Amino acid sequence: MSELDVMGAPGTAADGLAGEKLLRVENLSVDFPTDDGTVHAVRDVSFTLGRGEVLGIVGESGSGKSVSSMAVMGLLPKTAKISGSIRFKDKELVGLSYKQMQPVRGNGISMIFQDPMTSLNPVYTVGWQLAEAHRAHHDVSKKAAMAKAVEALELVGIPQPDRRAEQYPHEFSGGMRQRVMIAMAIINDPDVIIADEPTTALDVTVQAQILDTLLRIRDETSAGIMIITHDLGVVAGMVDRVQVMYGGTVVEQGGVDEVFEAQRMPYTVGLLGSIPNPNLLGKRLTPIKGAPPSLMNLPQGCPFSPRCPLAIDICRETEPQLLETDRAGHYARCHRSDHLATIEQPQRLFAHDEIGTVENPASLTAADPDVPVAEDLADVEARLHEEEKPTS
Ligand SMILES: Nc1ncnc2c1ncn2[C@@H]1O[C@H](COP(=O)(O)OP(=O)(O)OP(=O)(O)O)[C@@H](O)[C@H]1O
Ligand code: SF4
Ligand SMILES: [Mg+2]
Repeated sequence: MSELDVMGAPGTAADGLAGEKLLRVENLSVDFPTDDGTVHAVRDVSFTLGRGEVLGIVGESGSGKSVSSMAVMGLLPKTAKISGSIRFKDKELVGLSYKQMQPVRGNGISMIFQDPMTSLNPVYTVGWQLAEAHRAHHDVSKKAAMAKAVEALELVGIPQPDRRAEQYPHEFSGGMRQRVMIAMAIINDPDVIIADEPTTALDVTVQAQILDTLLRIRDETSAGIMIITHDLGVVAGMVDRVQVMYGGTVVEQGGVDEVFEAQRMPYTVGLLGSIPNPNLLGKRLTPIKGAPPSLMNLPQGCPFSPRCPLAIDICRETEPQLLETDRAGHYARCHRSDHLATIEQPQRLFAHDEIGTVENPASLTAADPDVPVAEDLADVEARLHEEEKPTS
């Protein structure tokens, strides 16, 4: 059975909530030829999105999150070389022209971008813009389209929607503008909504409200939603499944609780160490040392190997496949995921001297023999194993 058969098989944990597959992305790769060389922006990415499902796509800057979603929307520049398959319901999208994609875009699949001001026209009222977006896909009167616009504003939680529909974008706060963008995304009742960093520019309270709004939209419309973010913390407790991207490809994928509970790829462990955790309030975070790889000059083998505390020779030679781990429906692209599974406190692998460890910030000022603070990373693993051995 191929990797994809497993991921798409009905009844597995990798399935959407309600079973119907809205999107099937298989072996998607996107290259950008440039004067300096080819950027391998997306490499062999496969995933599915089910009706009513929320999928989180997480990874550092430049990991290929936006290019993957722009490929789904058919919005990549003509220079992009795309291979693989993107099926929306039964329709193959790869190979369609911009014009052929037009009926799908907005109507079947819609997108919410990070910065609403660049997507809204300042010289037209919000209601007019929503109504026109509806009329672009439906043969209805202006009055009916405006009624639909007001309904969409109401659905995204904008108070007094009929009055607000007559206002201009600058009359809305940042959070309210992002709600307008969500209204724009749902005005044609799409099956799939892609939200690319929908809350990055907003403060934490407003972020939570926007994410709640998206969940409510999912409940009310059964749309499948993809939320793209660099912050794993944002998707916790919100998405059904999570897909971690690194170096242009998926490195870990599974139910969100599974992935939060037991990571099977060290990069995800590192990502979790670099997000605020309410249970560790006041303690330091442990960002992953080093920089993400250049997608023009990827290192040989696993792209995470230069930063990975578990890297061994094979990691620097051969890139691992995305395979199911010891946990059903949980996939990882790592030669050592079985080994990672045996480590009790994997976050300690990412301890480093400037930061200390998340579990013991006191190590920054006082020597603690139990906390591997200033050791060479390669020694940390050996030490953890020593600690795990039963004492006689
Ligand atoms: N038109 C293009 N031509 C050349 N390279 C591109 C083009 N568009 C994107 N890239 C490159 O593709 C890679 C992936 O970019 P992408 O925008 O998908 O990253 P991302 O994961 O969304 O990052 P961020 O979190 O910063 O939004 C980057 O190295 C980027 O520079
Ligand atoms: S394959 Fe090797 S280098 Fe890559 S994440 Fe796994 S252990 Fe680390
Ligand atoms: Mg992006």
